[in-house]
Amino acid sequence: MLIEVLLKPKPFVKWAGGKKQLLKLIKERAPYSYRRYIEPFVGGGALLFELLPKRAIVNDINEELINAYLAIRDNLYELIDSLKQHNNSEEYYYYMRSLKPNELNRIERASRFIYLNKTCYNGLYRENSKGEFNVPFGKYKNPKIVDEQNLRAVSYYLDSEDITIICSDYKEVCHMATSGDFVYLDPPYYPLNRSSSFTKYTRHDFTEKDHTELAYIFRELDRKGCKVLLSNSNAEFIKNLYKGYIIEEVEAIRAINCKGSGRKKSKLEIIVRNYYT
Ligand SMILES: C[S@@+](CC[C@H](N)C(=O)[O-])C[C@H]1O[C@@H](n2cnc3c(N)ncnc32)[C@H](O)[C@@H]1O
Repeated sequence: MLIEVLLKPKPFVKWAGGKKQLLKLIKERAPYSYRRYIEPFVGGGALLFELLPKRAIVNDINEELINAYLAIRDNLYELIDSLKQHNNSEEYYYYMRSLKPNELNRIERASRFIYLNKTCYNGLYRENSKGEFNVPFGKYKNPKIVDEQNLRAVSYYLDSEDITIICSDYKEVCHMATSGDFVYLDPPYYPLNRSSSFTKYTRHDFTEKDHTELAYIFRELDRKGCKVLLSNSNAEFIKNLYKGYIIEEVEAIRAINCKGSGRKKSKLEIIVRNYYT
């Protein structure tokens, strides 16, 4: 008899703004109990896969990313087969990059997305103004294009628990939250300086106006009786938006020049919440 041992799932893509460094601090501040977990900017899902809630709604505006979550849940074995067909040559990478996602079926589309994430420069996701993925080839020696064990663990988790996966604007999902839910908000970071910060995940940018609206929605969720936790950069503009809530400045290491050779640890991020436990 074949017994399959499932590992704890972890993010299946590398994602800019992924919470690797802050994860421990955020996890320590997550509420002890809640009804549903709601993550309107899920990205790679670092906190989702850490907490593994039994009831959750997760959302992202990035269609390729959400299509990949759905394909992993619903079409796991076809997806793994398709991922095994790829190779890590520069020529093949640019060929895959040139394909139009909306001309592919769900599995091919997810396979292309995961392949590009594993082989592109720095695992970035960036689109030009036409919505086309435009990150160059990463030149990695041996990228793990197919992490079969993890994909199986992710698929099992998404399928066996009550997890709703949505591709929409974050506001739609925040409106679904009700009293007792835990909402984790991890929007694109407000840039601390113009040159170094990456905030554009799709052709839609997240502007100052969006951050102001998000703070309004945070207050609305608070009034509804949700427990709300937000992470963002430690900028005066952001801190002013959340006056009256618990704001903690936390340390993070960031590259301080574009080559990433200078690294500096300082209180570059904040965690805001409206509850103690
Ligand atoms: C900082 S990242 C989240 C990272 C995530 N916590 C992780 O662990 O990888 C922000 C995410 O917000 C998404 N996003 C940007 N604008 C959005 C919007 N208006 N509605 C929903 N998601 C949005 C981006 O596609 C990106 O995945």
